Amino acid sequence: MNVLAELKSRFRPALESLVSDPAKVGELLDLIRPAQDAKFGDYQANFAMPLGKVLGKSPRDVATQIAGAAKLDDLVAQPEIAGPGFINLRLRDEWVAAALQKAAAGERLGVGAVASPRTYVIDYSSPNVAKPMHVGHIRSTVIGDSLTRTLRFLGHKVISDNHLGDWGTQFGMIIHGYKHWVDQPAFANGPVAELSRLYKLASKLVEYRESLKNLPEAERRLAAKQKEVEEQKSLAKSADKAVSKKANEAVRRAAKQTEELTEELASQRSKIAVVEHDATLFKLAQEHATIDEAVLAETAKLHAGDAENLRLWHDFLPHCRVEIQKVYSRLDVKFDHEHGESFYHDRLAAVVEDLKKKGLAQESQGAICVFLEGFEAPMIVQKKDGAFLYSTTDLATIQYRMETWNPDAILYVVDHRQSDHFDKLFAAAKKWGYTGVELQHIKFGTVMGKDGKPYKTRSGDTVGLEGLLDEAVGQALKVVSENDDAKPEGPELSTAERQKIAEVVGLGGLKYADLSHNRTTDYEFDAEKMLAKTGNTATYMQYSYARVRSIFARGGVNLAALPSDTALVLTHPAERALALMLLRFAEALAETEADYMPHHLTAYLFDLAKSYSSFFESCPVLKAGTAASRNTRLILCDLTARTIKLGLSLLGIGVVEKM
Ligand code: ARG
Repeated sequence: MNVLAELKSRFRPALESLVSDPAKVGELLDLIRPAQDAKFGDYQANFAMPLGKVLGKSPRDVATQIAGAAKLDDLVAQPEIAGPGFINLRLRDEWVAAALQKAAAGERLGVGAVASPRTYVIDYSSPNVAKPMHVGHIRSTVIGDSLTRTLRFLGHKVISDNHLGDWGTQFGMIIHGYKHWVDQPAFANGPVAELSRLYKLASKLVEYRESLKNLPEAERRLAAKQKEVEEQKSLAKSADKAVSKKANEAVRRAAKQTEELTEELASQRSKIAVVEHDATLFKLAQEHATIDEAVLAETAKLHAGDAENLRLWHDFLPHCRVEIQKVYSRLDVKFDHEHGESFYHDRLAAVVEDLKKKGLAQESQGAICVFLEGFEAPMIVQKKDGAFLYSTTDLATIQYRMETWNPDAILYVVDHRQSDHFDKLFAAAKKWGYTGVELQHIKFGTVMGKDGKPYKTRSGDTVGLEGLLDEAVGQALKVVSENDDAKPEGPELSTAERQKIAEVVGLGGLKYADLSHNRTTDYEFDAEKMLAKTGNTATYMQYSYARVRSIFARGGVNLAALPSDTALVLTHPAERALALMLLRFAEALAETEADYMPHHLTAYLFDLAKSYSSFFESCPVLKAGTAASRNTRLILCDLTARTIKLGLSLLGIGVVEKM
């Protein structure tokens, strides 16, 4: 039961009789909200103020009229008109008790399935294989997995598709590396490690070449910026206030750009230094002086169907897949499909032909481009040398998905830095005729280190995903062990149990930290904070869960033995508050469904755990005064635990019975 949705449906007819525009009715209904403070009731309808303005009537009169017209009797005791025209709604205790009883009786905990299920394709994780997965990929994987689970639970048809980057330049690097430097016994022994060595070696040499090439231009740009800063600084001294203010702003802007350019330059210099400070690498760099071009040529040969390169690619790919699969099994993430970029290769030429035929793509300076209104640069679908691009593949992917699954929506869970790509892609797809499908870029921010920069290890490499998982689990093992050692009756967990719990707690903490931030913002990776026993962490929810389970174990409680019609008696305010919170699970899921933001669910679980804590502090459970009260409290405890467990499972996070 979604209480908020129910209240909206009760008020809808009364609003519709006053307002003809359905969109406006929707906006007004959105002004019904959970009350911020229990003294204003459980929910509050705040639409009378704007509505009064439109109708030219006193908001209090409008509120009274609508509250009188809406059929609320069974649900709300007596709507109360307050202040300028707020309608305070307190749910009837017997209604709350009955709704709760119903929620407790079913597997779905009172959450109904949607009336009109949609078909979603969710494109997530999608790493470029053959390169080590890094911390950025965890965000896409974890957010995509959670949306898949949540939308599916709500009754939608969800097709998850891992759009692997399995066809890009990284294969050119590996192929080049393999042809020149492979250590055959090492490859036979551990193909992934050897491929990864070859990739790193080739990419170091390619980056060296590219940096050497780009260095003069980068130096020139930096010098020009520094000059600009100086010029603006002297302008800023001008007596003319307007001139000086403008110059000061320009100084700030240019100084920031100087900083960025300095960083870029430093990064290029360090790529050069890496090679020049290593005699072996430096020698290789001399021997492979055109490696950047060679790598592109190997990639082009692969795409053109060169037999040897294709054979190598077929040899390498399964090993790369095994490697990423390890991460997925550890994170408990499964995909319905893994159609990588290579899957679409044969469709690309036809896509470009079709765009040309329909007059949507034109040649410009040798390349084939789709020009789009509102964008400065066109979307290139074929380069001068005939090569297709990321965009071409994505257009082919949309075509394939539409033909195959005809979805209502396609969600792309990808770093916000690809916003421009997706804006153009969606605009091009619309022009191409895909107007009926919702195309959404589910963007997310960067994982930052404590230094305010993208998260890196001390050596400066971006952190590999497996290392990060190990770090989280290691940290969790400490937390779990300390907690167990501090138990008044002494430790109760074996080493193996601790390890198992640490895996659930560590990975859960990591996922939760990611999901609990509004996904569009950057967030700071902090292994300690993310495993804190109190606060908005998975650990806190997992503890709350385990605490309920231990009460049941201690009391030898068997809920199944309670008669199914055990009446709930909510007497204490903390009981009622917890009951209401339990009923709000469906609202949190509906919020996540509406804007594809999992943090609504984590925020709800945090509120629930806090409500439970207050309840637990003021309401003895096993020692409750009467049998009816004890039963009610047991049911509240049980439903809390089940809601936490189900809620966490929709985030892809597990629970343990003991901690
Ligand atoms: N492989 C890409 C990357 O790692 C992400 C792909 C996202 N999905 C897509 N359909 N473009 O940046």
